[in-house]
Amino acid sequence: MSAPTPGPRAAAEADRVEAAVSARIRPTPEFLERVAHVRDELVQRIGAAARARSSPLVRALVAGSAARGTFLTDRLDIDLFLLFPPDLSRDRLREEGLALGRAVLSEPETRYAEHPYLRGKFEGFQVDAVPGYAVSDPSAPLSAVDRTPYHQAYLAERETPETVAQVRLAKQFFRAIGVYGSEARTEGFSGYLVELLIVRFGSLRRLLEEARRWRIPVHLAEPGHEPPRLPEHVALILADPVDPNRNVASALSRRNLGTLILAASTYLAAPSEAWFDRPKSRSLSRESALGQLRDRGTHVTVVLLPRPDLVDDTLYPQLRKAGRAIADELARSDLAPLGWAVATDPERLVLAFELSHPSRSAVRIQDGPPPGIDRVGQFLAKWTAPGAPALQGPYVREDGSLGVESRRADRGAEAVLRAAFPRLSLGKDLTPSDPTRATILPLADVPDSVGLGVALDALLGKRLPWAGSPPNGPSGT
Ligand code: UTP
Ligand code: MN
Repeated sequence: MSAPTPGPRAAAEADRVEAAVSARIRPTPEFLERVAHVRDELVQRIGAAARARSSPLVRALVAGSAARGTFLTDRLDIDLFLLFPPDLSRDRLREEGLALGRAVLSEPETRYAEHPYLRGKFEGFQVDAVPGYAVSDPSAPLSAVDRTPYHQAYLAERETPETVAQVRLAKQFFRAIGVYGSEARTEGFSGYLVELLIVRFGSLRRLLEEARRWRIPVHLAEPGHEPPRLPEHVALILADPVDPNRNVASALSRRNLGTLILAASTYLAAPSEAWFDRPKSRSLSRESALGQLRDRGTHVTVVLLPRPDLVDDTLYPQLRKAGRAIADELARSDLAPLGWAVATDPERLVLAFELSHPSRSAVRIQDGPPPGIDRVGQFLAKWTAPGAPALQGPYVREDGSLGVESRRADRGAEAVLRAAFPRLSLGKDLTPSDPTRATILPLADVPDSVGLGVALDALLGKRLPWAGSPPNGPSGT
């Protein structure tokens, strides 16, 4: 059954809370004016720079939340799109885009998403100058950002001052519960997705009233307009209004959608301003973690890898893939993990695995062939030869096949992983060419670091994002 409907007292309190938070996060008219001025100035300066170098630029525009006033003031970035003719080569697109960005922005820094863009400063604001193609049909984009001007037009037509305020409120709520941001590290709701949801439902409250009854996977696409080729683990389906073949929520994980659904019913039952507070960064020290392991009677093994020079959007999927590969290997080795978590330090990657036991049994039960096939002869000869390493058997098992028990060489989790490491397929850029570059240690021997604290909190500090800090260390202290 779905959560009970909150009473009128809770609804009145939610009205008060949302009005108070909305007022607190509303940008001042002076600030909005500065942003509008910077928008105009940027477009003009880019136009002048384009003429000066006879650039084939078709047009420049500011899109994204800075164009619509839907930004959170404490994380405003200005998205400046530089649109070029569709027949321009990708190399020249990059070259021209970066050159125009450099002509206008200070402290320029080249960054890479699907293609390069330039991050810099303009009149104190952070600006991302992103080159793209001026396409005439957003359902046939040539690069990932070509739909953006159409998003801008779609939302600008539908948003009112009320929905703009509701988008900011919703972004603040989503960020507070840790589900805001579609980058690979977060796998949450993109700014554009939040805006579409508010345009569709009208307000944060109506969105949450709907969301509290959602069941994953959630289909919000119009019937007959469902994007084809949906991945198996899709969480939410909402077709991009400017390109119905694209799922706007493709980056959203089921964990983050589940978190939103639960937060919706919990908030509606007991609204308070704390629901909109910025989340604190979470960490669990090695000492506290070791205390918890004594209490839980479990073991943590840690794999440290050198950190490759990759942007987070490339790094995190590979890091999770490596974590999954190691967890699978542990399971195949009779050391099935209770859980695992990954995090990063500036120089290294941290992968932590919680195991029921620090080592596996000395006895390995090996499958033999079913009696009646030729291979039985070889199997028996091998295991009954003088000096064969059988601890028990060969014998006939309950299902009629042969079995034999032998002694294992490696029993400790760290030794097992070290032996298996060379044949593990980690992420493409993570598989070290020299497997000895991986360090595999029990938690007690791992030097403390920020990344270790983040991984340990994810492994041993699991809780609802709004539940506050659990008591440190083992229960009862
Ligand atoms: P942003 O991620 O900056 O989103 O992308 P935003 O709407 O400005 O929200 P916040 O406040 O910064 O978080 C800017 C625009 O780029 C397009 C969307 O139209 C978005 O509004 N975009 C972004 C895409 O089309 N695809 C993407 O993968 C990312
Ligand atoms: Mn933005």
